[in-house]
Amino acid sequence: MSAPRPAQDGSAAQPSLSVGEASAPPVVIAIDPSRRTNADLMVACRDLGYIGGGRTLDPTHGLGTFWRGWSPDGLVRTDIDPTKSPSASRGVDFRYMPWAPIFSAVVFDPPYKLNGTERPGADDRYGVNAPARWQDRMALILAGVRECARVVAPGGHLLVKCQDQVVSGSVVWQTDEVTRAAEGSGLSKVDRLEFLSYRPQPDGRRQVHARRNHSTLLVFRKP
Ligand SMILES: C[S@@+](CC[C@H](N)C(=O)[O-])C[C@H]1O[C@@H](n2cnc3c(N)ncnc32)[C@H](O)[C@@H]1O
Repeated sequence: MSAPRPAQDGSAAQPSLSVGEASAPPVVIAIDPSRRTNADLMVACRDLGYIGGGRTLDPTHGLGTFWRGWSPDGLVRTDIDPTKSPSASRGVDFRYMPWAPIFSAVVFDPPYKLNGTERPGADDRYGVNAPARWQDRMALILAGVRECARVVAPGGHLLVKCQDQVVSGSVVWQTDEVTRAAEGSGLSKVDRLEFLSYRPQPDGRRQVHARRNHSTLLVFRKP
């Protein structure tokens, strides 16, 4: 940085930036209330170097909301729903993907809501509108984690959106289950960013555990 310039009014000198001098990059915080969208999360992960250094895969593309702030060059966008799968017109099941380990980043946002409490509109969008046992939903997610881990290139990152949540009166520690599946596939956890939600507790529900008002983005690295 260039030397402080004396202020004209005699007050303390202010540091100034010369032409071409970069300002300090923003500090990325694990639990940041100013992060309002998943797209903000992706920008944070770009700034941390987890996405953007090579090929990136989004195998649960949906409406593509993760990429509304920034998207990496050559992003591969697939989904099991062909109408949401711009890079593969017949759709791709995240449990059986056609690629070798070529991606430097895989961003996996599975249908992670486990309980059957209806959220009209959102359930359809997130692919959890069909009735299913929560154990089967969890098995689907973990199969996806293992397959996503497989297609990550050595030195690359796997990012998984998930949430510890109350199901039938008990907490299901989904972040632990996802971590075990990723570690079982040979990856190591390197980061954890929280995403705050402001949805209120449903009316008339007896509360037996702290309400989980955040979802989590886990970041793993393949050696
Ligand atoms: C939580 S949503 C993802 C939302 C997305 N990130 C967005 O910005 O809209 C989960 C997505 O997974 C897709 N999906 C569900 N089962 C799948 C499977 N077996 N293979 C691939 N995609 C699947 C759903 O169609 C849905 O779009």
